[in-house]
Amino acid sequence: MPGITISVNGTRREVQAPGDTPLLYVLRNDLGLSGPQFGCGLAQCGSCSVLVDGEEVRSCVMPVSSVGGREVTTLEGLASRWGAHKGLSRAEAENTLHPIQQAWIDEQVPLCGFCQNGMMIKATELLDQTPSPSVAQIKQAFMSGPSPHLCRCGSYTAIIEAVQRAASIMAKGGKQNG
Ligand code: FES
Ligand code: FES
Repeated sequence: MPGITISVNGTRREVQAPGDTPLLYVLRNDLGLSGPQFGCGLAQCGSCSVLVDGEEVRSCVMPVSSVGGREVTTLEGLASRWGAHKGLSRAEAENTLHPIQQAWIDEQVPLCGFCQNGMMIKATELLDQTPSPSVAQIKQAFMSGPSPHLCRCGSYTAIIEAVQRAASIMAKGGKQNG
């Protein structure tokens, strides 16, 4: 079987998989990236979300062959993505959290945690496009796409607060205070 080369979290990876294999399976089973979760498998929950060239996609329904030369970012790559944005060295980036991850910790968002990969990926897309979103814009973002992002534990209020906190941290260049 011919290999497929994809770029994930800044590294080119070759995988042996049929082209119609869902990207999610390749990320989890071939590349050992356990951030994206298998929830519905039907693009109806958002737990499997990743960024492809900065756009949130549902990796459970995206054939790996369609990724082509585009950059895939998973939850595991958020910190280095922020580090690149800030011009940090690789070593510095390894000891840094993305402000969204920090805000999620500060606001103690996760309950069971299953949906939170998709929530943080969606928040990253939103804050890239709208650095200081209103509550209405945050709600709209999480309702957009093939389906709303679903949390069966009901963490929605905490997510809104965490997005606002992350926006504040990012506006200060990553600093939480001052
Ligand atoms: S597992 Fe992909 S959207 Fe639910
Ligand atoms: S935290 Fe449990 S599904 Fe969202």
